[in-house]
Amino acid sequence: MLLLINRKSEREIDLMKKAGHLNYLAHEEIKKHIHAGVTTKQLDKIAHDFIVKNGGIPSCLGFEGFPASICTSINDEVVHGIPCNRKLKNGDIISVDFTVRLNGYESDAARTYIVGNVSKEIEDLVKNTELALYEGIKLVKPGARVGDISNAIETFAHNHGLSVVEELVGHGIGTNMHEDPDIPNFGEKNSGPILKEGMVLAIEPMLNLGSKEVCMLDDDWTIATLDESPSSHFEHTVAVTKDGYVILTGD
Ligand code: MF3
Ligand code: CO
Ligand code: CO
Repeated sequence: MLLLINRKSEREIDLMKKAGHLNYLAHEEIKKHIHAGVTTKQLDKIAHDFIVKNGGIPSCLGFEGFPASICTSINDEVVHGIPCNRKLKNGDIISVDFTVRLNGYESDAARTYIVGNVSKEIEDLVKNTELALYEGIKLVKPGARVGDISNAIETFAHNHGLSVVEELVGHGIGTNMHEDPDIPNFGEKNSGPILKEGMVLAIEPMLNLGSKEVCMLDDDWTIATLDESPSSHFEHTVAVTKDGYVILTGD
């Protein structure tokens, strides 16, 4: 299999950092509005208007026909939920995932929020999915391999009693939303492509409280767990630097 893994120059990484920062700011804006009673459609409008006002392009909108600027996935929905008139309610968890394009470069980040009060096991699901993301990120450096990231996420998930969705994976990112290589959330250490300075990766664990199996809902976009157990998702865009990494979708 031939992989074309783009390596970005310092100038390009700088532009991607600007895209990533706008992505971060848009997430911060959405966060202010996450509470019981808000509809996912309202969140979508807030995100769309904020990104556009700041000179960015909400590049999920129209991507392969996706009808909104953000993906909103509630409870048993894993990813790619379509914003609609559904209101968030106490006890829900919601994953918000979107890309922002700025200066010709993409950025991709996701967070899962808790609405009001949830059980301890759901609270732990969300907390441990975010921690699993950082377990993967912290291994990023030249010479490490994609399988090292995958294995760290899988091991952390399993150690915390969570299952790993296998059908969806992280990815390279740059002028395109999805570039090589794939970054699965499971796999063997010391396998897969070798990381090099200038590669930019979107790392995105999707972890379930129940079984790992997922299905596509009737809208042909939303992926949900087959057993209807809750699922959580976190994602950052990360660049490989000379001696480690920098998170581009952070503050
Ligand atoms: N942000 C998603 C990812 O992490 C891609 C969403 S594509 C869309 O790769 F069309 F659903 F927006
Ligand atoms: Co994403
Ligand atoms: Co992604």
